[in-house]
Amino acid sequence: MLKKIGLLGCGAIGTQIALAIDSGKIPAELTHIYDFDGAKAEALLAKLAKKPTLVANPHLLSSNNVDIVVEAASQEAVKNHALSILQNKKDLMIMSVGALLDESVFDILFDACVEFKKKIYLPSGAIAGLDALKSVKDELESVTLTTTKNPKALAGAKFFSVRNIDVNSITQKTTIFEGAAKEAVTLFPANINVAALLHQNRNIILAKLAGICELDVKSHYYPSL
Ligand SMILES: NC(=O)c1ccc[n+]([C@@H]2O[C@H](COP(=O)([O-])OP(=O)(O)OC[C@H]3O[C@@H](n4cnc5c(N)ncnc54)[C@H](O)[C@@H]3O)[C@@H](O)[C@H]2O)c1
Repeated sequence: MLKKIGLLGCGAIGTQIALAIDSGKIPAELTHIYDFDGAKAEALLAKLAKKPTLVANPHLLSSNNVDIVVEAASQEAVKNHALSILQNKKDLMIMSVGALLDESVFDILFDACVEFKKKIYLPSGAIAGLDALKSVKDELESVTLTTTKNPKALAGAKFFSVRNIDVNSITQKTTIFEGAAKEAVTLFPANINVAALLHQNRNIILAKLAGICELDVKSHYYPSL
């Protein structure tokens, strides 16, 4: 039987997931969607041949008859809604994985998974081959993730106010950040969630290699892209 999906967040990623389900590329049934920006939800609905129910608030996603809620919204959405989704005994797939770097959030959700016998899935997302990284973790001493983005995509990131840098002043390829994955996710909460996935895996590696691993996240910016 096809899994019933509730979608939280109807932006770029949520739309692609919904379209893939609608076309049959993902064998599932999209039954409910929600976005706090009603226009985004309506725009997605208009693109779909098989119309899901547009619910009026995020709680109605998981209180309905869905098997899994797919979060493609924001770290805030994870912090605000993930626990009630698990309490409603629904599995959860999280795209905004950076939210889990907050240890109190991680602990609460981990305990809820155990208590309600539910799972949280963290897809490899933008890092193809994360499974390969996991499988060679015993051999790894460090992993460097280099991310290249248009500065426009980074506008509003906490990094710029903390470091007092004007994003518009970046006019050529510039390395603006090098540091630990955890710090990168904190400073660029909407931009570098993949670093959080590496961080989660580093925890696995550290358990084996007793702290000799370091993660560098380098971000290069091409303003002309
Ligand atoms: N895991 C990965 O590899 C990976 C890769 C890229 C992006 N992401 C993350 O996935 C998330 C979605 O990315 P996107 O590119 O689709 O973003 P987007 O801005 O295009 O779409 C997000 C949508 O969610 C809605 N939204 C935001 N907060 C909400 C909330 N609290 N409740 C309800 N709706 C809410 C917004 O209105 C928007 O329509 C982001 O957090 C992004 O950082 C993860």
